[in-house]
Amino acid sequence: MQIVKLGNIKEHSYTMKESLRGLKTNLQFCGDDVKAILVTSSVPDEGKSTVTMNLARSLTESGKSVLVVDTDMRKSVLIGRLRAKSHEGELYGLSHYLSGQKKLDEVIYATDIKKLFMVFAGPSVPNPTEILEKKYFENLMEFARDQFDYVLLDCAPIAAAIDAAVIAKHCDGAILVISQGVASARLINNVKKQLEISGVRILGAVLNKVEMKKNGYGYGYGYGYYGNEEDEKGLAKLKPEEEQSKKRKKKNS
Ligand SMILES: Nc1ncnc2c1ncn2[C@@H]1O[C@H](COP(=O)(O)OP(=O)(O)O)[C@@H](O)[C@H]1O
Ligand SMILES: [Mg+2]
Repeated sequence: MQIVKLGNIKEHSYTMKESLRGLKTNLQFCGDDVKAILVTSSVPDEGKSTVTMNLARSLTESGKSVLVVDTDMRKSVLIGRLRAKSHEGELYGLSHYLSGQKKLDEVIYATDIKKLFMVFAGPSVPNPTEILEKKYFENLMEFARDQFDYVLLDCAPIAAAIDAAVIAKHCDGAILVISQGVASARLINNVKKQLEISGVRILGAVLNKVEMKKNGYGYGYGYGYYGNEEDEKGLAKLKPEEEQSKKRKKKNS
């Protein structure tokens, strides 16, 4: 098995550390039948990948072995963000495996963090939901459950794609990451409902980026960026500009 060096897992903020501690305790009390956990959110950029990596590291610090699978084959940032490097050159990922180009043992990497293993997303593909539904993914999950204490699946935001619902079928629990002042309560409730319909147990929510509340400027964050995401992914339901201006009006009134 190849080893990648993870140069850069961002240190957790105090609030996230507290949330993670709660989550970890929660997980440990859920019993050992809760092994495969998906991490999702309503919209992009709420902090799924950050929470996933920090929770993974936190679990390894308790002596657990963890496999992190980046299933967000639409927008994969983990390789770049973590500055992951392999000695052998190109890193292969989930999309290589799910499309039959690589074998399972060629896409699971050990890391320089003890007991932390990774499957990166690989190059983005036009049909992520379709390839997730194939037997390959089921095989991966079966293998991972057998080999690791925990499998954390970093998913696409649920309002953008049904990937998380497909992945949920193979998981024992879900963690919802909610970023302060980003998605509306209605949208978050919809996401919760979608997860419940898929039959997965919601283990908890991480309220992320809460420090922005103190400044009262949380609503302005990522304004233009969400606009772009919306165009790219056709998030018809999500109208961030409208949400933002409603909030602004409310605040000013
Ligand atoms: N608690 C936090 N405080 C400050 N910045 C954060 C926090 N959580 C995430 N971020 C930043 O927000 C951006 C989006 O986070 P990311 O984990 O990539 O979101 P997602 O995977 O949901 O799209 C990143 O630049 C990340 O560093
Ligand atoms: Mg992400």
